Amino acid sequence: MCAKGVDIGTCFLVGAELKDGKEVFTMERDAFFSMPNEDFAEDMLTKAGAFYIIKGDQIYVVGEDALKFSMVTGNQKDYRRPMAKGVLNPGEEEAISMMEVLLEAVVGKPNYPGEVICATMPANPVDADFDVTFHRMVLERFLKKLGYDVRCINEAMCIIYSENPTVTINNEVLPFTGIAISFGAGMVNFAAAWRAKKLLEFSCGRSGDWIDRQVAKVRSVPVSKVQSHKEKYLNFDRIDPTDQIMVALEIYYEDLIRYVITNIGQQLKAANATIDEPVEIVVAGGTSKPPGFVERFKGVLREVGLPIPVKGVRHAKDPLKAVAAGALIAAISDEKKRKAQAAAGKEEAAAPAPKAKARAAGGDVPLIS
Ligand SMILES: Nc1ncnc2c1ncn2[C@@H]1O[C@H](COP(=O)(O)OP(=O)(O)OP(=O)(O)O)[C@@H](O)[C@H]1O
Ligand SMILES: [Mg+2]
Repeated sequence: MCAKGVDIGTCFLVGAELKDGKEVFTMERDAFFSMPNEDFAEDMLTKAGAFYIIKGDQIYVVGEDALKFSMVTGNQKDYRRPMAKGVLNPGEEEAISMMEVLLEAVVGKPNYPGEVICATMPANPVDADFDVTFHRMVLERFLKKLGYDVRCINEAMCIIYSENPTVTINNEVLPFTGIAISFGAGMVNFAAAWRAKKLLEFSCGRSGDWIDRQVAKVRSVPVSKVQSHKEKYLNFDRIDPTDQIMVALEIYYEDLIRYVITNIGQQLKAANATIDEPVEIVVAGGTSKPPGFVERFKGVLREVGLPIPVKGVRHAKDPLKAVAAGALIAAISDEKKRKAQAAAGKEEAAAPAPKAKARAAGGDVPLIS
C-alpha cells in the first residue's frame, strides 16, 4: 500500500514515504536563484549538475543549489523564496510557478492515480492580517493535478502523530494527547490534541526568519550571515559573550519563546481550555534545533506560566523531519480507512463490517478524520 506525506515549509520542503516498510525522506530548500539565460550560463549549470529550469529569458536554479549559487556569486538579490511567513510569498511573482517545480521534485508523481497525500498547512496567524486559504487552495489544486488524492493537514498536528505525547488519567494512558509546537522559519505553529483530535490550533507570524532579520538589523550584518552563523554555531549551553551575533541571537530567541508562550496562554484562556491532567509539550522545527533550546523553553515557561498543568517538555527525535513523518502517518491511516470502507461496502450485504484500526510507522494510530 502506498501513501505520502509532505511538509510544505517556508525554508524546507520535506517529502515522506514508506519504502520496503521504512520511512524515506526527501528534502529540498524552498528557494530559487534567477539569472539571465545568456552566454554559457546553461552550459555551466549542466556541467555543475545543478537543478534548474528555463523560463522565457531567465534561468532559475532551484532548491539547495540556489543557496550555493547565491553564496558563490555573492549575489543575494537574486536569491528568492516562494514562501514567506508560512504561506506563498505575496511579494514574489514567481512564487506559484517555483513552488510547483519544487513540490513536484520532492513528492514526484503518484504511484497510482488517486494515491493519498497528506500536505501540511499552517494555522491562521493570531498576529497578522491574512489567512491561509489562498495558499491551501493553490497547493491543493496543484497536487490534485499531479494525480493525488489530497488531504490538507495542520502542521503542528503532524508532530502529535509522529511523537505521540500522552496524558494519564486514572492509570489510563491516552495516546496522541497533548501539545505540539513547530518552530519553523516563517511561523510558529501550535496545536493541542485529545486522542488525535485537534482541540485548538493557531500560528504566530514570527520564528527563525524573524530572529535572523532582527539580529541582522541590530548588528548591521547581512541576514544570510546571521542565518549561517546561527545554524552552524548556536549552542545555548555555550554562548560566547564576546561574539556579538551570538549575544543578539540569544536575546531574540528568548524574546521569541516568551512571545510564543504568552500567545499560547492567551489562546488557551480564550478557548476556555479546561485540562486538569498534566500535559506533555513536544517541540520540533529547525528553529528548535540548537542544543539547549528545550532548557531555554522550560526556563521561560517557568517564568511566564500557562493556564494548564504541564508534565514536561521534550524535543522531537528529528526536529526537521517530525512534521513530514506525522503527515505520512496520517496519509497511511487515511489510505487504510479508505480501503476498509471500500471492503465494508462490498461485504455490506453479507454482514456488517467490523471497525478497522490502523497501524502505521509510529505504532497504533487512531483513524484520523
Ligand atoms: N541547526 C540550526 N540551528 C538554528 N536554526 C536552524 C538550524 N537548522 C535550521 N534552522 C532554522 O530553522 C528554520 C527552518 O526550520 P523548518 O524547516 O522547521 O521551517 P519550515 O518548515 O521550512 O518553515 P515554516 O514551518 O515556518 O513554514 C530556519 O529559520 C533555519 O535557519
Ligand atoms: Mg514547518
